[in-house]
Amino acid sequence: MERLDKIISNQMGYSRKEVKDLVKSKRVLINDVVASKSDIKVDVSKDIIKVDGKEISVKEFVYLMLNKPKGYVSATEDKVMPTVLELIPIEYSHRDLFPAGRLDRDTTGLMLITDDGEFAHNILSPKKHVKKTYEVVIDIPMTEEMVIGFKNGVNLIDGECKSSELIITGEYSGTVILTEGRYHQIKRMFGCFGAKVLELNRVGMGNFYLPADLEIGECREFTDEDLKKIKGD
Ligand code: URA
Repeated sequence: MERLDKIISNQMGYSRKEVKDLVKSKRVLINDVVASKSDIKVDVSKDIIKVDGKEISVKEFVYLMLNKPKGYVSATEDKVMPTVLELIPIEYSHRDLFPAGRLDRDTTGLMLITDDGEFAHNILSPKKHVKKTYEVVIDIPMTEEMVIGFKNGVNLIDGECKSSELIITGEYSGTVILTEGRYHQIKRMFGCFGAKVLELNRVGMGNFYLPADLEIGECREFTDEDLKKIKGD
């Protein structure tokens, strides 16, 4: 059982005082009966809370997919550049959301924004082997040597990369599948072969792929099924 005012303020961003006023003005219903006090206890597993006629769904955590545009940094704050959090709708502003993992400022594609630290840790930890799939365009023709090098583990200044997959899809384009996420990893891996990455777009996390109808800059909630796919279930 949880206090009504706590639930409403957590889910909707109202202060406790504002919830008190909402209750006083009879705008809050519990199971279609006007709530009498703002501090009464409610069972979120069965009681239905409505504010202004709209049911509020009580979620412990939020999981959002974002199709990241270029020009945004994967951080919660930045002094100069806009952050990916600025693309999240205002209705989530009261939650402590953060991007799970980083994409470079000029990288586009699938990002998970959540307030579930444990889930984020699990999908990012190299030990969990959650694959990340990227589409890449480079400035010189793709070669078999790159494919073999990626498979064997490219040697970077901070150590050898785990084995990864490069599938050549065009003269200058390919798909890269990684299970770790080091700083500028793909750019540095291609750099070892004298190539510069021109375009980098993350299209998949685990077995979940960026939906074709999720426009650049748009965000939406993952379903439970999607989340299972990320973890590879
Ligand atoms: N590798 C990179 O070099 N940049 C990214 O944003 C992601 C993977």
